[in-house]
Amino acid sequence: MSNAQSTEITDSGELIPVNPAIESYMRKLVVHTDHPVLVEMEEFARLENFPIVNRLVGIFLETQTRMIGAKRVFEFGSGYGYSAYWFAKAVGERGRVICSDADARNFARAEHYLKTTNVWSRIDFCVGMAQEVFAQTEGLFDICYNDVDKVGYPEVWRMAKNRIRSGGLYIADNVLWHGRVATETSDAAAESTAAIMEHNQLIFDDPEFDAFINPTRDGVIVARKK
Ligand SMILES: C[S@@+](CC[C@H](N)C(=O)[O-])C[C@H]1O[C@@H](n2cnc3c(N)ncnc32)[C@H](O)[C@@H]1O
Repeated sequence: MSNAQSTEITDSGELIPVNPAIESYMRKLVVHTDHPVLVEMEEFARLENFPIVNRLVGIFLETQTRMIGAKRVFEFGSGYGYSAYWFAKAVGERGRVICSDADARNFARAEHYLKTTNVWSRIDFCVGMAQEVFAQTEGLFDICYNDVDKVGYPEVWRMAKNRIRSGGLYIADNVLWHGRVATETSDAAAESTAAIMEHNQLIFDDPEFDAFINPTRDGVIVARKK
């Protein structure tokens, strides 16, 4: 294992931006959970190879949400509600998390898992293309969170950036794309890599936002609207 490498390969063959020993150390710090359904949701992801944010990123999302007192969150690409759980927990009883996913099976899964928690009543789950759901949803948001198919990242950024209140956050997952943004290798994911690189550059070049990338797991960008 070389510290000079931009990515490392885990025992399971997964490419991750952070040294696996450090990622593993951080994961061990967050083994305690406040609801057993999270373990079930994580197990489903493992068995089905479904790309949810992990516990570390979930807690990061919760913390960011609490830090700005967010009450209204829009999720582009909610899967079956794992990331939404962390947002919904953080927005509190009067908060709303608007979820969107193109696959109706994910709505059923989200309901199955999250109706056992006190956060389900804070979630409006819309089945459909996230960009269309967003366009049909009025108002400003405290947080817009992007986790759709990666080729859609620049479009979602352009849509979302004007609908975030001053002091609010744009957050997107997978912005290091298993390190491919740094290595620029041409492979099957080249189109996604190019889209993510364009997305990241647009954000860092935008004078209306301050941006930062947390390299945890696959990289999470946080951009705060000035
Ligand atoms: C990476 S998964 C989301 C995981 C979820 N955010 C989590 O961490 O728990 C991406 C999801 O977005 C959905 N998706 C991808 N592109 C979409 C789009 N443009 N509109 C709606 N859903 C989309 C897929 O069906 C998939 O469930």
